[in-house]
Parts: sequence; C-alpha cells; structure tokens
Amino acid sequence: MQLLARPAASRKDVLRILSLGGIVAVTGYALREYVPWVNYEAEAAQPRRALPPDAAIQGRMEGMIRYATLAANGHNAQPWKFAVLANAIEIHPDYTRRLVAVDPVDRELWISLGCALENLLIAARVMGYAPEVTYPETHEVIRIGLTSDKPRWESLFDAIPLRQNTRAEYDGRPAAAGHLEQLQRMPLEPGVGLHLKVDRSGLATVAEYVHQAAVIQYADPPFLKELIHWLRFDKKEALASFDGLYSACTGNPAVPRWVGRMFVTGAKPRDLADADVKKLRSSAGAIVITSASETKADWVRTGQVYQRLALTMTAWNIKSAFLNQPVEVESVRSQLQTALDLGPARPQLLVRFGYADPMPRSLRRPVAQVLMHS
Ligand SMILES: Cc1cc2nc3c(=O)[nH]c(=O)nc-3n(C[C@H](O)[C@H](O)[C@H](O)COP(=O)(O)O)c2cc1C
Repeated sequence: MQLLARPAASRKDVLRILSLGGIVAVTGYALREYVPWVNYEAEAAQPRRALPPDAAIQGRMEGMIRYATLAANGHNAQPWKFAVLANAIEIHPDYTRRLVAVDPVDRELWISLGCALENLLIAARVMGYAPEVTYPETHEVIRIGLTSDKPRWESLFDAIPLRQNTRAEYDGRPAAAGHLEQLQRMPLEPGVGLHLKVDRSGLATVAEYVHQAAVIQYADPPFLKELIHWLRFDKKEALASFDGLYSACTGNPAVPRWVGRMFVTGAKPRDLADADVKKLRSSAGAIVITSASETKADWVRTGQVYQRLALTMTAWNIKSAFLNQPVEVESVRSQLQTALDLGPARPQLLVRFGYADPMPRSLRRPVAQVLMHS
C-alpha cells in the first residue's frame, strides 16, 4: 500500500514544486518588467524631446538627425547612418540592418530612408534652413544641402514626436469627410500616388489580399526567423538594443524569449491573418501608396509621402498602421495592382487609419550611434 502510495505523493510534490517555481518565475518576470527603475517610457521620451530653438550649429545638426530617426522604418531596424558635412547632411543606408527575408531588394529599406528624409526636411525648415535634396540616382546616398534661411514654422513639425504605427484595433468610426478631402489634395512627390479606399467593396478587396499574403508570410520559416530576430519580447531586450519591435508596441504581453518564439512559430497562419483582417475591418479606411517605377529615388519619394501622410493624420488625432503584407509578397502585389485598377502604378505601401488610443512608443538608438565618423 505504502509503496503504491509513494509515487502518487511524490508526483503531487513535484507538481507543487513546479507550480511554486512557476509562480516565482512569473512574479519575478512581472517584477522585472514593471519595476519603476527600468523606465521604458523615459527612454522612449528621450529621442522625442523638443528641439532647442536657439541651439548652436552642432546642436541643430544633432536635433535634425534625431528628428529624422523618429521616422517609421521596417521592423524598427533603423537602417540608416548620417554624415554631417560643412553645409549638408547625408543619409546613407546601413546594409548591416537589411531585412533580407521580407525585403530582399531593399525596397522598404529605401522607403524607410525616405521617411527619415521627410522628418529631416521639416525639422530643417523649422530650424532656419532651406534644404535641397539630391536623390540617390547615381550614388547610394541622399544628400540634403543646407543653406541658411528664415525659420519657417510647419504644423507637421509638432506631429513628428507623436506619430506612431498604432497596431491596435480601431473603434470603427468613419473619418470626417473634410479630412478625407484634404488627404486627397495632399501635396505629393513626382511619380507617387495616393489611392484612398473607404467604401465597403474597396476595403473588402484590400482585405482579401491582406489575408492571402499574410497566410503566405506567416507560413514562411525565413520570414518568421527574421521577425523573431527583431522582436523584443520584454523591456530588458528592448532596452538592450534600442531597436526592434517591443511586445507592448505590438499589443502583446511581455514574455520570455522562448515563450514568445513558441507563440510566433506555433500560431496558425490563418488565425494570424484573420487577426490582421479584423484590424483592417475596424479601420475608417485604407490607403495604397504607389510609385510610377521602381528606382531607389522612387522608393525614397514614396517614404516621404507616407511620412507626410502619417504626420498629417497624427495632427488630426487619426491613428494609422501599416498592413504591408500584400505589397511584400510579390505574387500578391501584382494581383492587388490589377484588382485595384492601379494601371502601371506600382503599389508600394498599404496603410490603414482610424481612431484608437495611443500605444506605447517605440525606442530609437541615440544620435551618437547613427553618426558616421570620417
Ligand atoms: C517600409 C515600411 C514597412 C513597414 N511594414 C510594416 C508592417 O507590415 N506591419 C507593421 O505592423 N508595421 C510595419 N512598419 C512599421 C514599423 O514597424 C514601425 O515604423 C517601427 O516599428 C517604428 O515604430 P513607430 O512607427 O511606431 O515609430 C513598416 C514601416 C516601414 C517604413
């Protein structure tokens, strides 16, 4: 009897010890995530602090670059380096931060540089410069010539530290007709187009291709491996690198890396794709940004238009987020182009917009880490 009872008792003990261990681990984990001295918010606020209006030249250069780094960029890989010259700033690609799986030809990398360019141009005008851009037509660099000018206030400037890619579900409210009209009249860049979809059938078409492409991506091991590499599953990971996608910014709880990896690789692609479509359905509308052709300069100009659009909506308290799956999966991209009657215009970005509370802000590396030294 006793002999038989023993294994049952010890199994219970083991379970008790295991669950106690589990509670200790989870509590320890939660404490580490929420302790006030690991202040994520303060670190996220640091690159978003106001620009000193009367800074000396070095401070102004540093400020413009800091504002450039607040731009949207794929996986928050921050694939940029900046060179400060006598009368110019250059934005260079940082190919060590390429996203080979999701962006094999560096299309989104150059779009990200275009987003940074737009922030830099706005900050430059506000700080008293007349910036002049040389696009990467012959050299792999974006050059911004800077000559002194009257400081010119721009309403989009205040939106730079506030803009974010808000990945939450939105509240379903339609956007004001006046705002939609203004979006359609927004100044663009040569060759770049905006295609607004707010009607049911247009959004249903977009949803169909988001779903199709999302299933392909979530079932693709190299895509998942790269995504996991850039995911920061808790505060400690996020603050170790100041880049990547922190869980809280994607609407997920903080978990140890092994749990997060298990969740990402174990989830059914169809369920994840359904969640993306649900987010699109909660939105007031979607916008496809197109370009006339596929050069680096076109991609940079596309990034500029996205950044301008997102800042414009931020100033109206309209949130936005990318749903780029159908432009990232090449076979689906051509189908989307045909289905939306875009003619020869190439779909480059897909953005949804609507109303929601803000989410935690993403981190940026400090300027010293993105400066090129001669
Ligand atoms: C070219 C490009 C592609 C992107 N694609 C996606 C995407 O498909 N899904 C997504 O949630 N975010 C996407 N993003 C948003 C970035 O992840 C986001 O900008 C980055 O994490 C920094 O966060 P923030 O924009 O809130 O500052 C993309 C950004 C850029 C510029």
